[in-house]
Amino acid sequence: MSAAFAERQFPLLAKCPAGLESILASELIALGADDVEPMHRAVAFTGTKRLLYAANYHCRTALRILLPVHRFSIRTEDDLYRLVKNIRWEEYFSPSDTFAIDSTISSSVFTHSHFVSLRTKDAIADRFRERLGNRPSVDIEDPGFRINVHLNNNEANISFDSSGSSLHKRGYHVSNAEAPLSEVLAAGMILLAGWDGQTNFTDVMCGSGTLLTEAAMIAMNLPAGQFRESYGFMKWKDYDPALWDQIREDALNQQRDLNVIIRGSDISENNLRAATANLKQARLHKDVELRVAPFTEAIPPPAPGTLITNPPYGERIPVNDINQLYSELGSTLKHKYQGYQAWIISADHHALKMTGLKPMKKYTLFNGQLECRYAGFELFAGKRKEFLEERS
Ligand SMILES: C[S@@+](CC[C@H](N)C(=O)[O-])C[C@H]1O[C@@H](n2cnc3c(N)ncnc32)[C@H](O)[C@@H]1O
Repeated sequence: MSAAFAERQFPLLAKCPAGLESILASELIALGADDVEPMHRAVAFTGTKRLLYAANYHCRTALRILLPVHRFSIRTEDDLYRLVKNIRWEEYFSPSDTFAIDSTISSSVFTHSHFVSLRTKDAIADRFRERLGNRPSVDIEDPGFRINVHLNNNEANISFDSSGSSLHKRGYHVSNAEAPLSEVLAAGMILLAGWDGQTNFTDVMCGSGTLLTEAAMIAMNLPAGQFRESYGFMKWKDYDPALWDQIREDALNQQRDLNVIIRGSDISENNLRAATANLKQARLHKDVELRVAPFTEAIPPPAPGTLITNPPYGERIPVNDINQLYSELGSTLKHKYQGYQAWIISADHHALKMTGLKPMKKYTLFNGQLECRYAGFELFAGKRKEFLEERS
């Protein structure tokens, strides 16, 4: 990348899980992005190199930040090979570097992303070999240079991946409980709920503590990448360490003290051990309260507050028990969490109805491959009608 690249505005693309596009768009606008346009599982925007670094560091709901560099029409796999080979790859990296290709396809013409990756890899390797007599090797685990190929029908988009490994890898998740949420999804759920760190927060089935850790980071204004050590752009030829240091220093100056209670509990001692280990890794173990307890016996921090939880979905639990669990959850929320907003994510739509609570808002989100409802409930202190009259 040339010096001109450092100064100018250029088009960028942030990828995210489905359902979080509007949240990611708001995060990018807050960072100063221009031309922000939510798409499906991605947000297009423009910005400078500073914004590219800042988006990687700050965006809680981004999975990757891509720099689109080439776009062309192709009709066959040979077109792809030929046009990729025409790109001057030697300007971006050298034979001593390593590289990897990620491909995504939404096309009826090309159906095998693995094959697209292979043809792209061959084109790049052949170009290097023909021009320089030597070629960079492929490293799928930790490449120096990650290239993204997106085929949309007949259009091929080639991007440089500035993130490296996916941004959900925040660097604090050192211990797993059962079915942990992705950090990006957990942060997106908190932001979709509108929680801004100004009221108490709790998760009564916290497992490995992903929602609690993300909540503490939001409340203290810690950047999403606070505990992550490396990004793809650090291996680029034009990497600017001074600019990166400046972005981190600015973030340090914007951190806040925690002024609210963040409390988690779980019935499983083992899972709570994982939560403790993760919070310790994030150096947040003194800020978040943890207790082993069934949710029926969890002690809510004083209202007003927000409860967000990710109960079991029942793949491994008999239906009667799962219905009972959700029904008990509903009555616990109704009786012990008045003055709270409660949010539940579940892939079990029927069980969610067993809470007996009427959602004020619903979103569709994906926990891995599982399509989930993310439902928000207003838990009124007193009768709903009186509450609504008081508010109006
Ligand atoms: C899907 S996992 C939550 C994962 C968590 N969000 C994370 O990121 O690690 C569901 C959790 O509910 C807990 N659980 C199940 N029944 C419970 C109950 N009656 N009271 C409290 N926790 C319960 C399980 O121990 C498990 O940790």
